[in-house]
Amino acid sequence: MAEGRLIVFFVNGRKMEISNPDPEMTLLQYLRQNLQLTGTKLGCGEGGCGACTVMVSRYSPTQDRIHQQSVTACLTPLCSLHGVAITTVEGVGSLSTRLHPVQKNLADAHGTQCGFCTPGFVMSMYTLLRNHPVPTTHQLETAFDGNLCRCTGYRSIIDGFRPFTRGGCGMGDSCCMNETTTTTTNNDCCVTTTNENVAGGCCKGENCCTKEPTNEGNNIDNTINGYAEETHSATTKFSPLYDPTQEPIFPPFLKTQAMRLNKEALKFTSGRVTWYRPTSLTQLLDIKKSHPDCKLVVGNTEIGIETRFKKQHYPVLVAATHVPELLTVEHTDSGIKFGASVTLVTLESVLKEAVNDLPEWKTSVFSAVMEMLRWFAGSQVRNVAALGGNIMTASPISDLNPLLMACGAKLQFISTEATTRDVTMDSTFFTGYRKTATQPSEILLSVCVPYSRQNEYFYGYKQANRKDDDTSIVNAGMRVVLNEDCTVQEAALAFGGMAPTTVLATKTSSALVGRKWNEELLSLACQTLAEDLPLSDEAPGGMIQYRRSLTVSFFFKCYMDILQRLHKQNQALDVLKEASHVSATQPMKRELAHGTQVFEAVTPDQPLEDAVHRPLVHQAAYKQTTGEAVYVDDIPTSQGELYMGCVLSTQAHARLIRVDPAPALAINGVVDFVSHKDIPGSNIWGDGNVVFASDEVTHQGQVIGVVLAENKTLAQRAAAAVVVEYETLDAVITIQDAIAKDSYFPQPHSIQRGDVTAAFAEVEHVLQGEVHIEAQEHLYLETNVALVRPGEDGEMEIFASAQSPSGVQENVAKTLNVSRSKINVRTKRVGGAFGGKQARVYVIILPMVVAAHKLKRAVRCQLDRNEDMMMTATRHPMLGQYKVGFNSDGKVQVLDVNMYLNAGITSETSNGVMEKAMFNTDNCYNIPNLSTGGELCKTNLPSNTAFRGFGGPQAMVVAETWINHVASFLKMAPEKVREINFYKEGDLTHYNQKLDHVTLQGCWEECMERSDFSTRRREVDKFNRENRWRKRGLSVVPTKYGMAFTAVFLNQGGALVNIYSDGSVLVSFGGVEMGQGLNTKMIQIASRLLRVPTSKISITETSTDIVPNSSITAASMSSDIYGEAVKEACETLRTRLDVHQKTRDDVTLSWEELVQSAYKARVNLSASGFHIVPDLGYDFQTNQGRVFSYFCFGAACSEVEIDCLTGEHKVLRSDVVMDAGKSLNPTLDIGQVEGAFVQGYGMMMLEQYKVRPDGTLLTRGPGTYKVPTLGTVPEVFNVSLLRHARNPRAVYSSKNAGEPPLFLAASVLHAVHDAVTSARRDAGLQDIYVTLNTPATPDRIRLACSDRFTQQFQAAEKKSQTAKDWYVDL
Ligand SMILES: Cc1cc2nc3c(=O)[nH]c(=O)nc-3n(C[C@H](O)[C@H](O)[C@H](O)COP(=O)(O)OP(=O)(O)OC[C@H]3O[C@@H](n4cnc5c(N)ncnc54)[C@H](O)[C@@H]3O)c2cc1C
Ligand code: FES
Ligand code: FES
Repeated sequence: MAEGRLIVFFVNGRKMEISNPDPEMTLLQYLRQNLQLTGTKLGCGEGGCGACTVMVSRYSPTQDRIHQQSVTACLTPLCSLHGVAITTVEGVGSLSTRLHPVQKNLADAHGTQCGFCTPGFVMSMYTLLRNHPVPTTHQLETAFDGNLCRCTGYRSIIDGFRPFTRGGCGMGDSCCMNETTTTTTNNDCCVTTTNENVAGGCCKGENCCTKEPTNEGNNIDNTINGYAEETHSATTKFSPLYDPTQEPIFPPFLKTQAMRLNKEALKFTSGRVTWYRPTSLTQLLDIKKSHPDCKLVVGNTEIGIETRFKKQHYPVLVAATHVPELLTVEHTDSGIKFGASVTLVTLESVLKEAVNDLPEWKTSVFSAVMEMLRWFAGSQVRNVAALGGNIMTASPISDLNPLLMACGAKLQFISTEATTRDVTMDSTFFTGYRKTATQPSEILLSVCVPYSRQNEYFYGYKQANRKDDDTSIVNAGMRVVLNEDCTVQEAALAFGGMAPTTVLATKTSSALVGRKWNEELLSLACQTLAEDLPLSDEAPGGMIQYRRSLTVSFFFKCYMDILQRLHKQNQALDVLKEASHVSATQPMKRELAHGTQVFEAVTPDQPLEDAVHRPLVHQAAYKQTTGEAVYVDDIPTSQGELYMGCVLSTQAHARLIRVDPAPALAINGVVDFVSHKDIPGSNIWGDGNVVFASDEVTHQGQVIGVVLAENKTLAQRAAAAVVVEYETLDAVITIQDAIAKDSYFPQPHSIQRGDVTAAFAEVEHVLQGEVHIEAQEHLYLETNVALVRPGEDGEMEIFASAQSPSGVQENVAKTLNVSRSKINVRTKRVGGAFGGKQARVYVIILPMVVAAHKLKRAVRCQLDRNEDMMMTATRHPMLGQYKVGFNSDGKVQVLDVNMYLNAGITSETSNGVMEKAMFNTDNCYNIPNLSTGGELCKTNLPSNTAFRGFGGPQAMVVAETWINHVASFLKMAPEKVREINFYKEGDLTHYNQKLDHVTLQGCWEECMERSDFSTRRREVDKFNRENRWRKRGLSVVPTKYGMAFTAVFLNQGGALVNIYSDGSVLVSFGGVEMGQGLNTKMIQIASRLLRVPTSKISITETSTDIVPNSSITAASMSSDIYGEAVKEACETLRTRLDVHQKTRDDVTLSWEELVQSAYKARVNLSASGFHIVPDLGYDFQTNQGRVFSYFCFGAACSEVEIDCLTGEHKVLRSDVVMDAGKSLNPTLDIGQVEGAFVQGYGMMMLEQYKVRPDGTLLTRGPGTYKVPTLGTVPEVFNVSLLRHARNPRAVYSSKNAGEPPLFLAASVLHAVHDAVTSARRDAGLQDIYVTLNTPATPDRIRLACSDRFTQQFQAAEKKSQTAKDWYVDL
């Protein structure tokens, strides 16, 4: 066979021809490295974040149609691109040409913060519009199930895109515009069009929420006591104006040559890997014959992970993407036969068509597969991943295999001799972990998914931690055929996640045959399923009791659904239980998130050019949407630049016996190995951390040495080749280990107020309890990255994605033993940080500077996601123990809290975190006698670090736990107990700070009012009475958050403002832009004082040679500190200009003329400003002195619904009221509130950081560590900034909103607790109080609900004392 050696494809309209491309190169690498198209970002490299999304277009000559698909460039092999056109974010629009409506709308809707995820969202939306110019809201939601944003909370992103949808109504799915029938009317809105391509048409005319509001672009409501509010609902303000005819055309070359290009067989080789692309079955079988061990590849979504992260090496890859027999879809008498390479998205659309066309009884298998596909990966993965790939991966948690096994799908294999073999997928097909009964010479040709029969019932179930884009914990396919008399004729129950393979519950299946569909059968099934599906104590995956309970819970759902159907057909042989049991079968559906944002409008007399308090768009928003915003790894490479690969410890605690870099150094292109021996200064940084391990490693992920090579691939391959031998030592991993081994750092402080012992003796009631708050990973979308360039005389220029450029400067100087003035650290922007780029950045920057110093060459490193997660640590896990004393009236009189923090291997930030936790022990409650303190546990984990809230949220979770406990004991409403104990104006905290400007009650009442709490409480109670297996919960939670660095010296900051002679202004200050909008706020302040439009003012970067000794950008203090510093500098300049103007009072000068005139008159047009937060200085010894500058207050009310049988939940609605003072920029602050709330929601409900008992991290990327997605945020999400809030202690009366709102997500946790309480009441367990540890994942919720299905497996407690859990609570 003649094989081509060239691939031809287009990128943004440019033709690319590559001869013999490297089979291991991804599209992402090619775009970023070869084409310098850096708008496409690397967020994870595993298809889990969507930051690398691009659009692939291909022409189908047979259909005469262009197919456009979003794909993840990180998993797309370069070799696979022959004949396609790629569009990246740069090809969509740019600042220099025109912004695409998608880009403009996203920016205008405040849908960007750090901007790292933004190009990915733009590309997903762009692709959706190219396929559906006016999509439905459902299509909109599905398009983003593979995109993560860690900053915004998603609501603003959706609001930016919603106007493109049919109707674009703020009512979400309830909008009648989503109807496809002709004019329908309801009370709120009506639809007058059915034209798919026309957006709009609501009968409410100008009042429709899709319309541009008339009053200055916002709905202004002046009705509340003269208070002017701006209310933004879903779609105000943005006009999509999307015109598909304006899009670039598909390259004519690809169209005319499509047939030839598609038919061309290809072969490329790098020496290490060879890539074949056969275009006929014969060619494929020939290749297979000559390379029996070759790997077929279609979507590369499995192989890409195996080669990149599991370091598998497949020397021969065969693309099975262009073999017609593998791509056919054939409707047969027994079902639909799909070629093995048919993608999941095609599978879904073919099944959808069949479900629409065929009788319902015939398509129950198809419906179940379609429903399963809805929750399978993200759309970028489904667009390319194949049915055959899923089957042949033979994963025990494959989502399709249980369904295919239960329905008895027929697989056809073909051997290299061209003989075919038909195999039914049954209990013999999977022979072991990731093994099948396939012969080595065979490949999978096709899969026939059968029609269902009359009286056949088919169900699919999937339970994951997160509903969308998550792998299953347990899944199942269930098929039951009933006889006329309702006895079972056939049954097949297949399960995933219960064994090393997908398994059939054979015993149960046969036990059911011949039995009547009644309670007896249910009991029997529960018993036999337990026998069919045992799990050992140490089974991989853990959660033994939960997983076992799920198997019977799923069966119960199936049982109830069939019973209901029989009932409807009047065939009920068993009385259907009370109506409330029907709730077992209802699917958990949700609407696209929407909500309103309310804030104070500026007064009409505020001059137009005065930008302060106005809802300005983030300064970098537009360039973020076009991919032109530059992050560190987007800086072009310089000559001689090297890449650094890290050699990391794979042991938690061990002596280093041998470190041998020889095999790495033998690789061509590897330059050097650098270790502790090369450090010119100190190997120690911070509180005992080492730059490189020397004799001993003390945690997994610790840097032992680094390899420098010509590029990233080589550096990482070489780092993996370094030989390290260990002698394992005892390790301490968990808080419980540390307690048992007395492994603590000194923790001198505690706070005492009143006489705790005496108070406990006097109160009527005392309760004790504890709650465990687990780790939280930052998962900033941009991993740690730096670029280091050595200069003359020991100078070093460092581009770092760091929260503290000055901190980097200090530690680099110490490591290299040079003065700080030689080190210049520059930070333009950071792609998300949340505390994680505070201290932990040193783990890569310090080895980099040692290498750059040694080799006198520039060094670059961006950690891969798995490295970043292994090296950089998390929020401190906490075990909070409490003893609370109170009287029957609900007033808490005394509290004793003891907190254990898992600090990791050094105490680094842990003392500060513990102090903050102690200061937040009270949350909002005035407790006359209070004792708080705890221990810092020293463990063999990376040193735990700052994370938004810095210990405060953990302590407040403890506080709300004992409040709930008290309420439960007294049988009082928790909100009542909260209110009884609230602080009032003038009260003293337990650290003796007098509270003034207390807005707690205001936030609380506004929240109660806006959320309509009392009405909804009644509705929730009614719902719970009517539903046994679905429960709702409602909770309202307050917060008080003190503002200031507790380390007093950090409360300082400087700024430098330069006015250039053309009138342009450059503002520099010590703070770092991380997405929070700090630069925008500083520009607003400068604009007011200088009296110039914001367009004249720019901020380029934070740099240690411009503003020295800056404090870290953290603790939500930056706009307070730097705002005042910028203000001071601008005031100085304005005064100089005003004085100069007076000398020219004969003429009125424009700004430019004034500046020019001042310049000529030799007026100094540069000024610095400096600010310290006054009056701070607390002393732990005396418990006196001011800790905080001021306090932020807030309250949130959340309503949830849980599925008691699976533990799944959804947030129906959250209403947040936050005191942001007189906000400097209300929409930025609302963005912070939403982002913090959703991140807090992740902490409380979703994000489970899993570590093996030996310290090995299991969750190393978004595939395993689940952060909130668009599909998990509250369906209705309303945020209001408190009315009339003022703050005399910060710039222009503002307050900061970065950290304080995070804790308010505890309202979701407590709403879930409320729902669980109702389930327990139904189960007769109301008297036993349960605590929900965080994150309250489905397993915790399910087991807390406790019923016959969970109790059946209670005995699943460890049988063996030596058995180890799969993962441990840190
Ligand atoms: C972000 C992400 C999310 C995911 N989510 C899910 C999920 O929710 N549920 C789930 O089940 N899986 C999930 N997966 C796993 C994976 O996407 C699926 O298994 C997918 O169907 C694999 O298809 P592919 O074409 O990409 O496989 P590839 O990676 O191309 O191949 C996978 C394996 O199948 C073999 N193979 C392919 N075709 C044939 C053939 N014709 N004959 C013999 N062997 C063949 C290959 O040699 C290889 O061993 C996810 C993966 C990612 C990256
Ligand atoms: S970088 Fe490709 S999906 Fe995350
Ligand atoms: S703006 Fe989405 S991750 Fe930062």
